[in-house]
Amino acid sequence: MTDWLGLADRPSLVMGAGGIGGASAVALARNGARVLLVDVDQEHLDAVRRDAKEAGADLDTLEADLRTPEACRDAVAEAVSRLGGLDVFLHAVGRNIRKPVLDLGDDDWSSIVNLNLSTAYWSGQAVGKVMTERGYGRMVFVSSVSGLLAHPHHAPYAASKGGLNQLLRVMAREWAPHGVTVNGVAPGYIETDLTRAYLDKDGIRENLTALVPAGRLGRPGEVADAVTFLASDRSAFVTGQILFVDGGRVLV
Ligand SMILES: NC(=O)c1ccc[n+]([C@@H]2O[C@H](COP(=O)([O-])OP(=O)(O)OC[C@H]3O[C@@H](n4cnc5c(N)ncnc54)[C@H](O)[C@@H]3O)[C@@H](O)[C@H]2O)c1
Repeated sequence: MTDWLGLADRPSLVMGAGGIGGASAVALARNGARVLLVDVDQEHLDAVRRDAKEAGADLDTLEADLRTPEACRDAVAEAVSRLGGLDVFLHAVGRNIRKPVLDLGDDDWSSIVNLNLSTAYWSGQAVGKVMTERGYGRMVFVSSVSGLLAHPHHAPYAASKGGLNQLLRVMAREWAPHGVTVNGVAPGYIETDLTRAYLDKDGIRENLTALVPAGRLGRPGEVADAVTFLASDRSAFVTGQILFVDGGRVLV
């Protein structure tokens, strides 16, 4: 098989072994990348490793809680040490708390902004140092349609994703001269652990599906396909972009 994507042997760090991060890690590994996958949940890591093996690939794992600057920097340093460098980085950790603004507690706000946005900044900064020195890099952050749309009961989540979009655009501008591209994928409604319980509530799946021009929810593998392109050599002249993977949701 030819390496059309230019991913073979690329040292790659993926943060987040959930539905989207897991599918993306497997897709990168299937295309020949050497992947270190990081998550706080060892069961998620083991499950993705099994999926990779079933797909005829393999990946390395690291259990870590990424909620501090030190933890993010340590994970990046561990990736550089285990993989011998870093060409590809995917940030796919995130959480949502659904409450009206008036019901939000201080911890609701800070915990979502910390996990969704601050970990992206801390790890992106550490990865950026490595990639700009080497003169090559592909960074991808998982944003959301919530970075653009004003869904009720999504205040900290929407603010963190809007902030993430601007963070990655500034990184993209600063690091473009060094051969480093920085992009985001913005999924619509994808069925994963993040959304499953909510989608299973009475009428929610039907109501949300009705808002998607494609007439269905998305699959993690469809987000992974977009990540794979942005992580590949084929996207060399694409930077600072947010690629919506949403079946047309933001058109409505
Ligand atoms: N599923 C969707 O519909 C959807 C839509 C838009 C955006 N997103 C975004 O995609 C990204 C991934 O979401 P997902 O759907 O795969 O969710 P998921 O819940 O399946 O995965 C999230 C992963 O993050 C890990 N994690 C949580 N806290 C952590 C911590 N402190 N340290 C390390 N790992 C931690 C979890 O263990 C889990 O494996 C998130 O940024 C989310 O906001 C998801």
